[in-house]
Amino acid sequence: MSKTIAVIGGTGLCDWPGAEVLDETAVETEYGAPSALLQRIRYEGAEFLFLARHGKGHQIPPHAINYRANIAALKQAGVDALVSVNAVGGISERFVTGVIAIPNQINDYTWGREHTFFDGSNGKVEHIDFSYPYSQDLRSRLANAAVDADIAFEDYGVYAVTQGPRLETAAEISRLARDGNDIVGMTAMPEASLAREAGIEYASVALVVNPGAGLSDNIITMEDIQTVIDTGMLQVKSILAHCIAA
Ligand code: HPA
Repeated sequence: MSKTIAVIGGTGLCDWPGAEVLDETAVETEYGAPSALLQRIRYEGAEFLFLARHGKGHQIPPHAINYRANIAALKQAGVDALVSVNAVGGISERFVTGVIAIPNQINDYTWGREHTFFDGSNGKVEHIDFSYPYSQDLRSRLANAAVDADIAFEDYGVYAVTQGPRLETAAEISRLARDGNDIVGMTAMPEASLAREAGIEYASVALVVNPGAGLSDNIITMEDIQTVIDTGMLQVKSILAHCIAA
């Protein structure tokens, strides 16, 4: 299967140290500009498009990201498979700090985001099937790549998408656990459903960077999260390179 593949990087992956930037393009879409220049990069033998979800230098918070422009820009660039990288909090037992997951389900708790291309403005109403929000095919490719790269991972995970930018209360994490969520982050929606609307296959590699609020004796600090990112993102990048080069 040959696909035009792109990576959308989140917290901890706003740029790609160690990669060769082959070119950078400023893209404009009918929804506005995407978060950053679209870069074509080469890393460990893999060549692909890269977009920094939070902008260069991480200046755009999750609720203010122009998700429609990001997905539209990737679609315009001919992308048909998109791997999302997410830094998340862990909720259920197996999803401790440092674990890498390839999530298989989503619960959407976000609100007020521009979340559809089918908003009625062009006279078109469509209801996409979203029973399985992640592409099974792309998830399998990522799982095979992780095995190839000899990196341990969890091949499932229900991702709770919260509004942010604040982290959750301990009570909210208890509720998310009761709802059956394994991990919590702020950016999988509406990105995943917009990708489905645009006909782009979508899957995620999620790195657990902290225990959910109230699940450890400590409060959550950005310094602690950064330490996990420093090692974990190297593994995530290796999975991506194996997946794309395969
Ligand atoms: N909650 C929500 N989003 C996150 C977290 C969290 O604990 N950690 C990283 N992104």
